[in-house]
Amino acid sequence: MSVITFANTKGGAGKTTAVLLVATELARRGYRISILDADPQHWITRWYEMASEACRQRLSVVSYVTTGTIDRHVAEELRRADVVLIDLPGARSPLLAKAVGYSSYVLIPVQGSAMDAQGGAHVIELLHYLADKAAIHIPYSVVLTRVNSMVTTRALQAVKELLASRRVHVFETPIIERSAYRDIFGCGETLYTMDPRRVSNLDKAQENSSLLATELLGHISAARGAGTQRLRSVA
Ligand SMILES: Nc1ncnc2c1ncn2[C@@H]1O[C@H](COP(=O)(O)OP(=O)(O)OP(=O)(O)O)[C@@H](O)[C@H]1O
Ligand SMILES: [Mg+2]
Repeated sequence: MSVITFANTKGGAGKTTAVLLVATELARRGYRISILDADPQHWITRWYEMASEACRQRLSVVSYVTTGTIDRHVAEELRRADVVLIDLPGARSPLLAKAVGYSSYVLIPVQGSAMDAQGGAHVIELLHYLADKAAIHIPYSVVLTRVNSMVTTRALQAVKELLASRRVHVFETPIIERSAYRDIFGCGETLYTMDPRRVSNLDKAQENSSLLATELLGHISAARGAGTQRLRSVA
C-alpha cells in the first residue's frame, strides 16, 4: 500500500492531470486506487461524477479533503485501496506538510518554467526539512510536464540544468503536452475509452501515460526496498 502525493505550490503545474493519468493507468492494471481530492477546483471529483461505471472501475474519489479531515481519509482509504493518490492545491498550505508526512513517495510536477521550478523548490525544501529535523526521509522525484514533443525550449533546458545541479531526481518520462490530457477532463472518459478518430495522437498519449505509470511503480518498489534495507540496518 502506497500513498503518493502530487505537489507543487505553483498553480497550474500539471498536478491534477498527472494524478488522473496515473490513477486511470494503475486502475487499468488492476490496482485499487483511491484519490484524495484536495484541489479547490475539484477537477477529479467532476471527472468522476461524469465518468461511466466502466471508467470508474477500481477507482474511488474522496472529495473536499481538508487539513482537518485528511488524517481520517488516509486511514480509511488505506484500508481499501492499494494506492492512495493525493491531489493538492497549487498553493502553500498546512495540507502540504500533512499530506507529505503520510506519503511513501512525492511526485513534483514541474513545467519548463522558472516559476514552476520555484514552486517545486518549496516542496523540496519541506522534504529536506523533514529529513534534517525529524529524520523522516520521503523519496521524491520531479516529473516534467507539458513538454513539447518536438522541441526543447530554452526555459525547459534551464530548468533541467537547475535540477541536475541540485541533484534532484527527474523522471525519465516527461508528461508530454497532449490535447487528449485536456479532453479527458471534459468528457469523463479515460485515454482507453476515448474515440481515436476524434482525439489527435491518442495512441501517443496512451504510450506516454503508460510509461509514466511504469516508471512510477518502479520507483515506488525501489523506495520500498530501500526502506526495508534501512530498517534492517537499524535493527
Ligand atoms: N500534459 C498536458 N498536456 C496538455 N494540457 C495540460 C497538460 N498538463 C496540464 N495541462 C493543462 O494545464 C492546465 C493546468 O493543469 P492542471 O490543472 O493539471 O494543473 P494543477 O497543478 O493541478 O493546477 P492547480 O494548481 O490549479 O490545481 C489545465 O488546463 C490542464 O488541462
Ligand atoms: Mg489541480
